[in-house]
Amino acid sequence: MLKVGFLTSGGDCQGLNGAMRGTVKALVTNSKEKIQIYGFNYGYLGMINEDYRKMKPEDFEDILNIGGSILGNSRCPFKQIEKPDEQGRDKVKCMIETYKKLELDCLVVLGGNGSHKTANLLSSKGLNVVTLPKTIDNDIYGTEVSFGFWSAIDIATRSLDELQTTAKSHKRIMIDEIMGHKTGWLTLHAGIAGNADVILIPEIPYDIKEVRKAIDKKMKAGKDYIVIAAAEGIISKEDAKLSKKELKAKRAEDGFISAGYRLAAELAPHYTNEVRVVVPGHVQRGGNPDAFDRVLTSRLGTKAADLILNKKFGMAVAVVNNKITAIPLPQAVEKTKFVEPDDEFVIEAKKLGICLGD
Ligand code: F6P
Repeated sequence: MLKVGFLTSGGDCQGLNGAMRGTVKALVTNSKEKIQIYGFNYGYLGMINEDYRKMKPEDFEDILNIGGSILGNSRCPFKQIEKPDEQGRDKVKCMIETYKKLELDCLVVLGGNGSHKTANLLSSKGLNVVTLPKTIDNDIYGTEVSFGFWSAIDIATRSLDELQTTAKSHKRIMIDEIMGHKTGWLTLHAGIAGNADVILIPEIPYDIKEVRKAIDKKMKAGKDYIVIAAAEGIISKEDAKLSKKELKAKRAEDGFISAGYRLAAELAPHYTNEVRVVVPGHVQRGGNPDAFDRVLTSRLGTKAADLILNKKFGMAVAVVNNKITAIPLPQAVEKTKFVEPDDEFVIEAKKLGICLGD
């Protein structure tokens, strides 16, 4: 009997169910042993609290096209686990005990950066761990793409498409605040696909004068509405010079709501066009995976199963040079994958005449 535990950790996204289903299907098809699956409820919390359900391969049969996670997600206190205080150490101990008690052969973790760090820690403590790259932010180092990313691009693009028509009717400047935490991958891709006039990302602090120059140029050329794709983590050049503490104080004083609203406040006094902000928020993480993510998660799942059946643990399934592969977990958690200011997508966006705010 091959005993495999699954958990889905961090913020949810499209493709979690598909990735588990792909792994289970490939295990069942290729294993000589029977498979017993343990599904931990709500990510690492399920392991900590011994909160799990015994599952059958049939439970994964018809979930490829369904969003969210049948196991539920949670953001466990990653920081506490990475740099453990006494409470953190207890949590790690509980997870190891659960793993041993259930006599698992392997734990499959579907998660983003924080979840990968915890998986790496558990692996360093002797647990057999395999990870799958999940996040709409696409910021996991070592993989070119994570699942959820393209489904979220589709949704963010649709929001920009829809803003284009209403912005035009009302001659408005529309700011679409797009998710991505501290990285700009999602905004950059959706901004290009959604024909944004301006794309602002956290990795390139924006100069408001440059943003205005770009808007003025378009308006002089006859365009009377503007659509801006602004990542939730953007920061102005001015604010980027402040320390964390100074920035916090400034934002508290300004009554900072979000980066999109801050940008709107900076632009509004200079235009007769109304400036409006739209925050699609969690809509971008919700709903069903697109066809790309269904294919990707099915393929990633087969790789996870290969690793388990060949007893290659401590590995992160990844996409490298457009191929499904796996890299050692410590390599996957080395750093966060940020957009470089000279990334090809940035250069190409600029060549298309899109203002990046610098
Ligand atoms: O990491 C995915 C993500 O959606 C980020 O883009 C966003 O900053 C964050 O999660 C929001 O997290 P929560 O759902 O916990 O508010």
